[in-house]
Amino acid sequence: MPDTHRSLEGLFNPIRATAFQSSSPSHLTRPNFIPMPSKQDRSGKLISFEGSEGSGKSTQIARLASRLQSLSRDVVTVREPGGTEIGEQIRTIIVHNSKGEEMCAETELLLFAAARAQLVREVIAPALIRKTIVLSDRFLDSSTVYQGVARNLSMDPVNQINLFAVGSVMPDITIVLDVPPEVSLARIRRRASDLPDRMERENIDFYTKVREGYLVLAKGLPERFIVIDGTQSEDVIEKKIWASIKDRLD
Ligand code: TMP
Repeated sequence: MPDTHRSLEGLFNPIRATAFQSSSPSHLTRPNFIPMPSKQDRSGKLISFEGSEGSGKSTQIARLASRLQSLSRDVVTVREPGGTEIGEQIRTIIVHNSKGEEMCAETELLLFAAARAQLVREVIAPALIRKTIVLSDRFLDSSTVYQGVARNLSMDPVNQINLFAVGSVMPDITIVLDVPPEVSLARIRRRASDLPDRMERENIDFYTKVREGYLVLAKGLPERFIVIDGTQSEDVIEKKIWASIKDRLD
């Protein structure tokens, strides 16, 4: 078995087992309790977009958002890390730190999870309760793949931390834009970004692991994941995304 696949063993069960559990009674005693939607209350949809840098997520999110708006659907788009004041501050820590000491993978995991926990409670959960379609540029699968698979952290703590951060809010649909590592690297080099140099300095091996990580996740959770070839034209990708999700939005 290749190493990446071995490191992915046991990846799926914790996510399946606890997805959509409703809040435990102890949550209700917290003074700053923020309601988290159970599967029944959430009439909106959460669609996450995943893939390596340069895979075209933001272009497709913008296209899907305007298509949905033209159909009079309420849409909110968010990006990770960020999307809330606290999340943007966390993004700044991740970005600035790259210029000094290297940040260890454990710190990175916890910071991404912290930003996500805030985003879920402040923006995503309330939007889902309001029947809104939320398009998220990355979500918990990014931590599974980047920190777990590509940076080699153990899967159990990665899964536990991911689930603690998102609570009952799991994506309904996850679209992976799949591009070969050479294409990611070439596209990354052409664009300007505030992202840590460290994250964009990785080599082909790193992006190969990222790609394989997404493909293995998608294979294990076919009811949630849709993989689309991200090397096709933007118009073709947009049509394929729409064809695969349009009947799953109500
Ligand atoms: P992007 O803005 O091109 O999507 O890049 C975000 C960067 O942050 C990318 O290098 C992936 C990384 N990232 C993680 O490593 N783990 C995470 O959980 C998230 C959300 C992002």
